[in-house]
Amino acid sequence: MSTAHVMIRPAVIEDLDAICDVHARARATYYAGFLPTAEYNGPAELERQREGTARAIASQEYTVLCATRQDHIVGFAVLGARFEEDKLFHFHIDPEVWRTGTGSALHHACVAVWQAAKLSAVRLEVFAPNARARAFYTSKGWEEDGREDDHVTMRLLVPVPQQDPVL
Ligand SMILES: CC(C)(COP(=O)(O)OP(=O)(O)OC[C@H]1O[C@@H](n2cnc3c(N)ncnc32)[C@H](O)[C@@H]1OP(=O)(O)O)[C@@H](O)C(=O)NCCC(=O)NCCS
Repeated sequence: MSTAHVMIRPAVIEDLDAICDVHARARATYYAGFLPTAEYNGPAELERQREGTARAIASQEYTVLCATRQDHIVGFAVLGARFEEDKLFHFHIDPEVWRTGTGSALHHACVAVWQAAKLSAVRLEVFAPNARARAFYTSKGWEEDGREDDHVTMRLLVPVPQQDPVL
């Protein structure tokens, strides 16, 4: 298990291969046994995901953050901060470093983006059988508020930024 320090930064297009690698391995952990492999790990689906992530990195509409340890990408998030109730679209950590605080560091950076955009609430959808992610999000203050097909919807009240006390 890695204990190296986690850094969070905006993704650039040169990160695409590493992001797609993390994405494919992380997704497989919660779809395996629930969906046919081709639906989440087939070449057409992997290419679709890759094109979507490349578009998000290039776009002004989305923020793509990556988590690195020793300059190696170990996680990424794709989020919107355009309007109230905008979404966390992707949030994936390399299974090799799970439960070492990487997700927490990346989530903290996502919240900072929403705070900077002055949003009060944001949303996400999580595959219902993905108990690990549901527990993670709950630990970060997200609340489950509905269900759409095989996904649970969750909402986060964005915390007010901490102000330094006036001395
Ligand atoms: C869910 C995920 C992002 C968590 O990332 P992580 O780096 O392991 O998270 P952290 O180490 O920061 O954990 C923070 C807290 O989340 C909760 N948590 C994380 N994994 C958990 C698990 N397997 N069971 C219960 N709670 C868990 C705990 O409260 C944990 O704090 P603790 O370790 O002090 O108890 C990661 O497992 C992942 O990428 N999973 C696959 C991709 C995925 O499901 N993405 C969501 C798609 S919507």
